[in-house]
Amino acid sequence: MALYLVTGGSGFIGSHIVDELLRRGERVNVLDNLSTGRKENIAHVKEQIELWETDIRELEQIRPAFAGVDYVIHLAALPSVPRSVKDPLTSNAVNINGTLHVLLAARDAGVKRVVLAASSSAYGDNPVLPRVETHTPRPLSPYALTKLAGEYYCQLFTQLYGLEAVALRYFNIFGPRQNPDSPYTGVLSLFIAAYIRGETPTIFGDGNQSRDFTYVANAVQATLLACTAPEASGRVINVGVGDSFTLNRTIELLNEIFGRQVTPEYASPREGDVRESLADISLARQILGYEPAFRYEEGLRKTVEWYRAELGN
Ligand code: UD1
Repeated sequence: MALYLVTGGSGFIGSHIVDELLRRGERVNVLDNLSTGRKENIAHVKEQIELWETDIRELEQIRPAFAGVDYVIHLAALPSVPRSVKDPLTSNAVNINGTLHVLLAARDAGVKRVVLAASSSAYGDNPVLPRVETHTPRPLSPYALTKLAGEYYCQLFTQLYGLEAVALRYFNIFGPRQNPDSPYTGVLSLFIAAYIRGETPTIFGDGNQSRDFTYVANAVQATLLACTAPEASGRVINVGVGDSFTLNRTIELLNEIFGRQVTPEYASPREGDVRESLADISLARQILGYEPAFRYEEGLRKTVEWYRAELGN
């Protein structure tokens, strides 16, 4: 039985990782400042975890949460491309300084390995698809840049201090518990909530931008494999499905699932938005033994079921 520290463990992805770790009989510390994470996400396991309500911007305050920890899964971050365009300073402080603090605390506590949630946004407007880890990063937003800096810090900590670290480039993770009430949440939670509430979804741009939307259970699988896979340290690895869908196609799928003909509104494209995104997951297969268990449509149906139960209808 190992001790895992999940930073951002009360957030959307983090809480699913916590659930799976507990299901496997591991011990879990959660470090979260509850800024975007929600206590409801971990309420059902609160007796089984140790919760550290601190902020990764405060190095000395986070150190105690690392005592005796074997693996750190570092998800605490300020997500959202538009938020980072509006307020780059805060995204920088949390995602870059915060990650540096997590790495320092992990190094000093003798942690075996850190797994960082990095982002597909690092590829930016590199025109080559699918995205392969060897492609040159071309970040288009402060968010993308902060996530890329985190990867470089991980690699430096491996080289300079011998701290094992793996950066996983998550491709648009979605699923239950993604907060539909934050303007900075992922597009699918906004679309699904709009369908349930009888509101009109808004598409920024022409709707032909595409994403490799990845159901959260796939990300959980890859992340836990990355903690122990022998060849993973020092690597940057894509975590997606290897399929891409446009927003217009997504609306068609939601129309089928809900049995309605909703027509979205179209608005100006967002600043810093990526046009196309599709993962090559060969490296994840090879190094982690990862195989996505859920395709997009299946994940979308499961997600709709959850939001219906949560929001009613
Ligand atoms: C980016 C990253 C993703 C990361 C996420 C964190 C890429 C390819 N992906 O996601 O890996 O996890 O940041 O925040 O860079 N949109 C609408 N209507 C809405 C909301 C969004 O049309 O109401 C559009 C956006 O303009 C975008 C797409 O939907 O084209 C996806 O947006 P979003 O879910 O916010 O994620 P990304 O910015 O793609």
